[in-house]
Amino acid sequence: MYKFFFRLVFKRMDPEQAHYLAFRWIRLAARIPVLRTFVAAVLAPRYKELRTEALGLRMHGPFGLAAGFDKNAVAIDGMSMLGFDHIEIGTVTGEPQPGNPRKRLFRLVADRALINRMGFNNEGSAAVAARLAARRPVFRTTVGVNIGKTKVVPEAEAAGDYVKSTERLAAHADYLVVNVSSPNTPGLRNLQATEALRPLLSAVREAADRTVAGRRVPLLVKIAPDLADEDVDAVADLAVELGLDGIIATNTTIARDGLGLKSSPSLTGETGGLSGAPLKARSLEVLARLYARVGDRITLVGVGGVENAEDAWQRILAGATLVQGYSAFIYEGPFYARAIHKGLAARLAASPYATLAEAVGAETRKATA
Ligand SMILES: Cc1cc2nc3c(=O)[nH]c(=O)nc-3n(C[C@H](O)[C@H](O)[C@H](O)COP(=O)(O)O)c2cc1C
Repeated sequence: MYKFFFRLVFKRMDPEQAHYLAFRWIRLAARIPVLRTFVAAVLAPRYKELRTEALGLRMHGPFGLAAGFDKNAVAIDGMSMLGFDHIEIGTVTGEPQPGNPRKRLFRLVADRALINRMGFNNEGSAAVAARLAARRPVFRTTVGVNIGKTKVVPEAEAAGDYVKSTERLAAHADYLVVNVSSPNTPGLRNLQATEALRPLLSAVREAADRTVAGRRVPLLVKIAPDLADEDVDAVADLAVELGLDGIIATNTTIARDGLGLKSSPSLTGETGGLSGAPLKARSLEVLARLYARVGDRITLVGVGGVENAEDAWQRILAGATLVQGYSAFIYEGPFYARAIHKGLAARLAASPYATLAEAVGAETRKATA
Protein backbone atom coordinates (compact mmCIF):
# COMPACT_ATOMS: atom_id res chain seq x y z
CA MET A 1 0.00 0.00 0.00
CA TYR A 2 2.72 2.49 1.05
CA LYS A 3 4.97 1.32 -1.79
CA PHE A 4 2.14 1.86 -4.29
CA PHE A 5 1.57 5.32 -2.80
CA PHE A 6 5.30 6.03 -2.83
CA ARG A 7 5.50 5.20 -6.54
CA LEU A 8 2.38 7.20 -7.33
CA VAL A 9 2.93 10.36 -5.26
CA PHE A 10 6.17 10.72 -3.33
CA LYS A 11 8.49 9.50 -6.08
CA ARG A 12 7.21 12.21 -8.42
CA MET A 13 7.68 14.95 -5.84
CA ASP A 14 10.84 16.78 -4.89
CA PRO A 15 12.27 14.66 -2.02
CA GLU A 16 12.41 17.55 0.43
CA GLN A 17 8.83 18.57 -0.33
CA ALA A 18 7.70 14.97 0.07
CA HIS A 19 9.47 14.92 3.43
CA TYR A 20 7.62 18.01 4.66
CA LEU A 21 4.29 16.68 3.36
CA ALA A 22 4.70 13.35 5.16
CA PHE A 23 5.92 15.22 8.21
CA ARG A 24 2.78 17.39 8.26
CA TRP A 25 0.53 14.31 8.10
CA ILE A 26 2.40 12.64 10.93
CA ARG A 27 2.18 15.74 13.12
CA LEU A 28 -1.50 16.20 12.30
CA ALA A 29 -2.33 12.58 13.11
CA ALA A 30 -0.50 12.90 16.42
CA ARG A 31 -2.71 15.87 17.37
CA ILE A 32 -5.99 13.96 17.00
CA PRO A 33 -6.45 11.84 20.15
CA VAL A 34 -8.59 9.04 18.67
CA LEU A 35 -6.43 8.75 15.59
CA ARG A 36 -3.09 8.75 17.40
CA THR A 37 -4.31 6.15 19.90
CA PHE A 38 -5.42 3.93 17.04
CA VAL A 39 -2.24 4.43 14.99
CA ALA A 40 -0.01 3.82 18.01
CA ALA A 41 -1.96 0.66 18.88
CA VAL A 42 -1.27 -0.68 15.39
CA LEU A 43 2.25 0.63 14.77
CA ALA A 44 3.81 0.79 18.19
CA PRO A 45 3.01 -2.49 19.89
CA ARG A 46 5.22 -3.20 22.90
CA TYR A 47 7.17 -6.42 23.26
CA LYS A 48 8.08 -7.21 26.86
CA GLU A 49 11.14 -9.16 25.79
CA LEU A 50 12.52 -6.15 23.88
CA ARG A 51 12.56 -3.82 26.89
CA THR A 52 15.94 -2.21 26.82
CA GLU A 53 18.06 -0.50 29.43
CA ALA A 54 20.68 1.72 27.91
CA LEU A 55 22.49 4.87 29.01
CA GLY A 56 20.77 4.50 32.37
CA LEU A 57 17.39 4.88 30.62
CA ARG A 58 14.52 2.42 30.29
CA MET A 59 13.13 2.05 26.78
CA HIS A 60 10.30 -0.03 25.31
CA GLY A 61 12.61 -1.38 22.63
CA PRO A 62 16.02 -0.88 21.03
CA PHE A 63 15.01 0.74 17.73
CA GLY A 64 14.74 4.49 17.28
CA LEU A 65 14.78 7.33 14.80
CA ALA A 66 18.19 8.64 13.71
CA ALA A 67 19.04 12.34 13.81
CA GLY A 68 18.14 14.60 10.91
CA PHE A 69 14.51 13.64 10.43
CA ASP A 70 13.08 15.82 13.20
CA LYS A 71 15.67 18.57 13.33
CA ASN A 72 13.59 21.02 15.35
CA ALA A 73 11.80 18.67 17.76
CA VAL A 74 8.37 19.26 16.26
CA ALA A 75 7.25 15.64 15.73
CA ILE A 76 8.42 13.65 18.74
CA ASP A 77 4.96 12.30 19.55
CA GLY A 78 4.25 11.63 15.89
CA MET A 79 7.36 9.54 15.42
CA SER A 80 6.77 7.78 18.71
CA MET A 81 3.24 6.99 17.50
CA LEU A 82 4.86 5.26 14.48
CA GLY A 83 6.78 2.91 16.77
CA PHE A 84 10.23 4.48 17.12
CA ASP A 85 11.20 3.84 20.72
CA HIS A 86 13.65 6.68 20.96
CA ILE A 87 13.74 9.84 18.92
CA GLU A 88 16.99 11.68 18.29
CA ILE A 89 16.20 15.28 17.41
CA GLY A 90 18.62 17.65 15.64
CA THR A 91 21.22 18.30 14.59
CA VAL A 92 20.68 21.56 16.45
CA THR A 93 23.35 24.25 16.14
CA GLY A 94 24.17 27.10 18.53
CA GLU A 95 22.54 29.64 16.21
CA PRO A 96 19.66 29.23 13.72
CA GLN A 97 20.73 28.70 10.11
CA PRO A 98 19.00 27.99 6.80
CA GLY A 99 21.29 25.19 5.61
CA ASN A 100 22.52 24.86 2.04
CA PRO A 101 20.58 26.12 -0.97
CA ARG A 102 18.07 23.71 -2.48
CA LYS A 103 18.12 21.26 -4.17
CA ARG A 104 19.94 19.41 -1.39
CA LEU A 105 18.24 16.04 -0.96
CA PHE A 106 18.31 13.31 -3.61
CA ARG A 107 16.67 9.88 -3.83
CA LEU A 108 18.70 7.04 -5.31
CA VAL A 109 15.73 4.70 -5.65
CA ALA A 110 17.64 1.96 -7.46
CA ASP A 111 20.08 1.84 -4.54
CA ARG A 112 17.51 2.34 -1.77
CA ALA A 113 19.67 5.27 -0.75
CA LEU A 114 19.65 9.03 -0.27
CA ILE A 115 22.24 11.73 -0.77
CA ASN A 116 21.83 14.85 1.31
CA ARG A 117 23.68 18.09 1.71
CA MET A 118 21.13 19.77 3.95
CA GLY A 119 23.85 21.54 5.95
CA PHE A 120 22.18 21.54 9.38
CA ASN A 121 19.12 23.62 8.50
CA ASN A 122 17.54 24.22 11.90
CA GLU A 123 15.96 26.83 14.14
CA GLY A 124 18.91 26.97 16.53
CA SER A 125 19.44 25.91 20.12
CA ALA A 126 17.41 28.68 21.80
CA ALA A 127 14.23 27.98 19.79
CA VAL A 128 14.52 24.22 20.08
CA ALA A 129 15.19 24.44 23.83
CA ALA A 130 12.07 26.59 24.26
CA ARG A 131 10.02 24.06 22.29
CA LEU A 132 11.29 21.14 24.36
CA ALA A 133 10.66 23.05 27.59
CA ALA A 134 7.03 23.71 26.57
CA ARG A 135 6.43 20.18 25.35
CA ARG A 136 3.63 18.16 26.97
CA PRO A 137 4.41 14.61 25.87
CA VAL A 138 1.55 12.36 24.82
CA PHE A 139 3.68 9.21 24.53
CA ARG A 140 6.45 8.39 26.95
CA THR A 141 9.57 8.17 24.83
CA THR A 142 13.31 8.75 25.06
CA VAL A 143 14.46 12.01 23.48
CA GLY A 144 18.07 12.32 22.38
CA VAL A 145 19.40 15.75 21.43
CA ASN A 146 22.05 15.86 18.72
CA ILE A 147 24.15 19.04 18.55
CA GLY A 148 26.52 20.36 15.89
CA LYS A 149 28.52 23.43 14.94
CA THR A 150 26.97 26.57 13.47
CA LYS A 151 28.42 26.98 9.97
CA VAL A 152 29.73 30.55 10.41
CA VAL A 153 31.55 29.71 13.64
CA PRO A 154 35.22 29.04 12.85
CA GLU A 155 36.56 25.57 13.57
CA ALA A 156 38.86 26.95 16.30
CA GLU A 157 35.82 28.31 18.19
CA ALA A 158 33.69 25.21 17.72
CA ALA A 159 33.74 24.20 21.40
CA GLY A 160 32.06 27.47 22.42
CA ASP A 161 29.22 26.86 19.98
CA TYR A 162 28.66 23.29 21.24
CA VAL A 163 28.81 24.54 24.84
CA LYS A 164 26.16 27.18 24.09
CA SER A 165 23.84 24.48 22.71
CA THR A 166 24.61 22.22 25.66
CA GLU A 167 23.75 24.94 28.19
CA ARG A 168 20.40 25.47 26.49
CA LEU A 169 19.48 21.91 25.62
CA ALA A 170 21.04 19.45 28.07
CA ALA A 171 18.28 19.88 30.65
CA HIS A 172 15.72 18.72 28.05
CA ALA A 173 17.76 15.78 26.75
CA ASP A 174 17.52 12.18 27.93
CA TYR A 175 20.87 11.88 26.19
CA LEU A 176 23.10 14.32 24.32
CA VAL A 177 25.05 13.60 21.13
CA VAL A 178 28.05 15.54 19.89
CA ASN A 179 27.88 15.30 16.12
CA VAL A 180 31.29 15.71 14.53
CA SER A 181 30.60 13.57 11.51
CA SER A 182 28.22 15.28 9.08
CA PRO A 183 29.95 15.91 5.77
CA ASN A 184 27.97 19.06 4.95
CA THR A 185 29.52 21.57 7.36
CA PRO A 186 33.02 22.47 6.16
CA GLY A 187 35.69 21.33 8.62
CA LEU A 188 33.25 19.60 10.99
CA ARG A 189 34.72 16.16 10.56
CA ASN A 190 38.21 17.43 11.47
CA LEU A 191 36.82 17.59 15.01
CA GLN A 192 36.96 13.78 15.08
CA ALA A 193 40.73 13.93 15.42
CA THR A 194 41.48 13.15 19.06
CA GLU A 195 43.46 16.39 19.62
CA ALA A 196 40.30 18.35 18.71
CA LEU A 197 37.78 15.87 20.11
CA ARG A 198 39.26 15.58 23.61
CA PRO A 199 38.83 19.28 24.57
CA LEU A 200 35.48 19.47 22.77
CA LEU A 201 33.93 16.50 24.58
CA SER A 202 35.41 17.63 27.90
CA ALA A 203 33.89 21.10 27.46
CA VAL A 204 30.47 19.67 26.60
CA ARG A 205 30.61 17.26 29.55
CA GLU A 206 31.51 20.12 31.90
CA ALA A 207 28.73 22.33 30.50
CA ALA A 208 26.15 19.56 30.88
CA ASP A 209 27.18 18.90 34.49
CA ARG A 210 27.17 22.60 35.30
CA THR A 211 23.73 23.29 33.86
CA VAL A 212 21.80 20.16 34.83
CA ALA A 213 21.48 19.58 38.55
CA GLY A 214 20.69 16.21 40.09
CA ARG A 215 21.14 14.15 36.91
CA ARG A 216 24.12 13.16 34.82
CA VAL A 217 23.06 13.59 31.19
CA PRO A 218 24.50 10.71 29.12
CA LEU A 219 26.91 11.99 26.48
CA LEU A 220 27.61 10.27 23.16
CA VAL A 221 29.65 11.08 20.08
CA LYS A 222 28.53 10.30 16.52
CA ILE A 223 31.23 9.28 14.06
CA ALA A 224 31.63 8.98 10.30
CA PRO A 225 32.00 5.71 8.42
CA ASP A 226 34.85 7.26 6.46
CA LEU A 227 37.29 7.26 9.38
CA ALA A 228 40.30 5.02 8.89
CA ASP A 229 40.25 1.97 11.15
CA GLU A 230 43.03 3.39 13.37
CA ASP A 231 40.98 6.57 13.84
CA VAL A 232 37.93 4.51 14.83
CA ASP A 233 40.12 2.84 17.45
CA ALA A 234 41.45 6.21 18.61
CA VAL A 235 37.92 7.57 19.12
CA ALA A 236 36.98 4.37 20.99
CA ASP A 237 39.99 4.74 23.31
CA LEU A 238 39.26 8.41 23.87
CA ALA A 239 35.63 7.65 24.70
CA VAL A 240 36.74 5.17 27.36
CA GLU A 241 39.37 7.58 28.69
CA LEU A 242 36.83 10.42 29.03
CA GLY A 243 34.11 8.23 30.53
CA LEU A 244 31.80 8.90 27.62
CA ASP A 245 28.48 7.03 27.69
CA GLY A 246 28.20 6.01 24.07
CA ILE A 247 29.26 6.12 20.44
CA ILE A 248 26.86 6.30 17.49
CA ALA A 249 28.16 4.56 14.40
CA THR A 250 27.68 5.85 11.78
CA ASN A 251 26.73 9.04 10.00
CA THR A 252 26.46 9.24 6.19
CA THR A 253 29.43 8.56 3.90
CA ILE A 254 31.14 10.75 1.33
CA ALA A 255 32.41 7.58 -0.41
CA ARG A 256 30.88 6.46 -3.70
CA ASP A 257 33.40 3.96 -5.07
CA GLY A 258 33.16 0.28 -4.31
CA LEU A 259 29.57 0.51 -3.08
CA GLY A 260 28.07 -1.06 -6.20
CA LEU A 261 25.79 1.91 -6.84
CA LYS A 262 23.28 1.35 -9.64
CA SER A 263 21.86 4.88 -9.93
CA SER A 264 22.96 7.19 -12.71
CA PRO A 265 26.31 8.97 -12.32
CA SER A 266 24.47 12.32 -12.40
CA LEU A 267 22.78 11.29 -9.16
CA THR A 268 25.61 9.43 -7.46
CA GLY A 269 27.86 12.37 -8.31
CA GLU A 270 25.82 14.80 -6.19
CA THR A 271 27.86 16.26 -3.35
CA GLY A 272 26.77 15.22 0.12
CA GLY A 273 26.40 12.31 2.49
CA LEU A 274 25.14 8.99 1.18
CA SER A 275 22.83 6.96 3.43
CA GLY A 276 20.72 3.84 3.14
CA ALA A 277 21.48 0.36 1.85
CA PRO A 278 24.95 1.05 0.37
CA LEU A 279 26.16 2.19 3.80
CA LYS A 280 25.17 -1.06 5.50
CA ALA A 281 28.42 -3.01 5.25
CA ARG A 282 30.76 -0.23 6.41
CA SER A 283 28.51 0.89 9.27
CA LEU A 284 28.33 -2.69 10.52
CA GLU A 285 32.09 -3.05 10.18
CA VAL A 286 32.76 0.14 12.19
CA LEU A 287 30.32 -0.97 14.86
CA ALA A 288 31.93 -4.40 15.24
CA ARG A 289 35.36 -2.80 15.40
CA LEU A 290 34.19 -0.45 18.15
CA TYR A 291 32.67 -3.32 20.13
CA ALA A 292 35.85 -5.37 19.81
CA ARG A 293 37.70 -2.39 21.29
CA VAL A 294 35.36 -1.19 24.05
CA GLY A 295 33.16 -4.22 24.80
CA ASP A 296 30.44 -3.43 27.30
CA ARG A 297 32.20 -0.40 28.78
CA ILE A 298 30.38 1.97 26.43
CA THR A 299 26.92 1.83 24.89
CA LEU A 300 27.07 1.50 21.12
CA VAL A 301 24.33 2.69 18.79
CA GLY A 302 24.22 1.09 15.33
CA VAL A 303 22.92 3.15 12.40
CA GLY A 304 23.45 3.15 8.65
CA GLY A 305 21.56 1.06 6.13
CA VAL A 306 19.29 -0.68 8.64
CA GLU A 307 16.42 -1.68 6.34
CA ASN A 308 14.73 -4.50 8.20
CA ALA A 309 14.67 -6.65 11.33
CA GLU A 310 17.51 -8.84 10.13
CA ASP A 311 19.77 -5.79 9.72
CA ALA A 312 18.83 -4.58 13.20
CA TRP A 313 19.50 -8.05 14.65
CA GLN A 314 22.93 -8.12 12.98
CA ARG A 315 23.74 -4.75 14.60
CA ILE A 316 22.77 -6.11 18.00
CA LEU A 317 24.88 -9.23 17.53
CA ALA A 318 27.77 -7.00 16.42
CA GLY A 319 27.58 -4.92 19.59
CA ALA A 320 24.79 -2.34 19.38
CA THR A 321 22.50 -1.92 22.38
CA LEU A 322 20.43 0.60 20.42
CA VAL A 323 19.77 0.69 16.68
CA GLN A 324 18.52 3.58 14.56
CA GLY A 325 17.24 4.16 11.04
CA TYR A 326 16.34 7.01 8.72
CA SER A 327 16.62 6.35 4.96
CA ALA A 328 14.77 3.05 4.91
CA PHE A 329 11.80 4.77 6.59
CA ILE A 330 11.43 6.82 3.41
CA TYR A 331 11.31 3.66 1.29
CA GLU A 332 9.46 1.32 3.67
CA GLY A 333 6.90 3.75 5.09
CA PRO A 334 4.93 3.81 8.33
CA PHE A 335 5.25 0.09 9.12
CA TYR A 336 9.06 0.29 9.18
CA ALA A 337 9.65 0.53 12.94
CA ARG A 338 6.88 -1.93 13.73
CA ALA A 339 8.35 -4.52 11.37
CA ILE A 340 11.75 -4.13 12.99
CA HIS A 341 10.55 -4.59 16.56
CA LYS A 342 8.30 -7.48 15.57
CA GLY A 343 11.10 -9.19 13.66
CA LEU A 344 13.54 -8.63 16.51
CA ALA A 345 11.18 -10.27 18.98
CA ALA A 346 10.89 -13.29 16.65
CA ARG A 347 14.66 -13.50 16.18
CA LEU A 348 15.32 -13.29 19.89
CA ALA A 349 12.79 -16.06 20.56
CA ALA A 350 14.48 -18.29 17.98
CA SER A 351 17.99 -17.52 19.25
CA PRO A 352 20.00 -19.14 22.03
CA TYR A 353 19.90 -15.86 24.01
CA ALA A 354 17.52 -15.46 26.94
CA THR A 355 17.50 -11.66 26.72
CA LEU A 356 18.31 -9.00 24.19
CA ALA A 357 21.13 -7.79 26.44
CA GLU A 358 22.71 -11.23 26.20
CA ALA A 359 22.65 -11.04 22.40
CA VAL A 360 24.48 -7.68 22.31
CA GLY A 361 27.92 -8.25 20.81
CA ALA A 362 27.60 -12.06 20.78
CA GLU A 363 28.87 -12.43 17.20
CA THR A 364 31.77 -10.02 17.69
CA ARG A 365 32.78 -11.80 20.90
CA LYS A 366 32.78 -15.10 19.01
CA ALA A 367 34.81 -13.65 16.16
CA THR A 368 37.44 -12.17 18.47
CA ALA A 369 37.62 -15.07 20.98
C1 LIG B 1 18.29 13.86 4.88
C2 LIG B 1 19.19 13.44 6.01
C3 LIG B 1 19.54 14.36 6.99
C4 LIG B 1 20.37 13.99 8.02
N1 LIG B 1 20.68 14.89 8.99
C5 LIG B 1 21.45 14.53 10.04
C6 LIG B 1 21.73 15.44 11.08
O1 LIG B 1 21.26 16.58 11.08
N2 LIG B 1 22.52 15.01 12.10
C7 LIG B 1 23.04 13.74 12.16
O2 LIG B 1 23.74 13.41 13.11
N3 LIG B 1 22.77 12.85 11.18
C8 LIG B 1 21.99 13.22 10.14
N4 LIG B 1 21.71 12.31 9.16
C9 LIG B 1 22.33 10.97 9.22
C10 LIG B 1 21.42 9.93 9.85
O3 LIG B 1 21.13 10.24 11.18
C11 LIG B 1 22.07 8.54 9.78
O4 LIG B 1 23.24 8.54 10.58
C12 LIG B 1 22.44 8.13 8.38
O5 LIG B 1 21.48 8.56 7.45
C13 LIG B 1 22.60 6.63 8.24
O6 LIG B 1 21.41 5.95 8.55
P1 LIG B 1 20.37 5.44 7.42
O7 LIG B 1 21.17 4.67 6.42
O8 LIG B 1 19.37 4.62 8.18
O9 LIG B 1 19.76 6.66 6.84
C14 LIG B 1 20.88 12.67 8.10
C15 LIG B 1 20.51 11.75 7.11
C16 LIG B 1 19.68 12.11 6.08
C17 LIG B 1 19.29 11.09 5.05
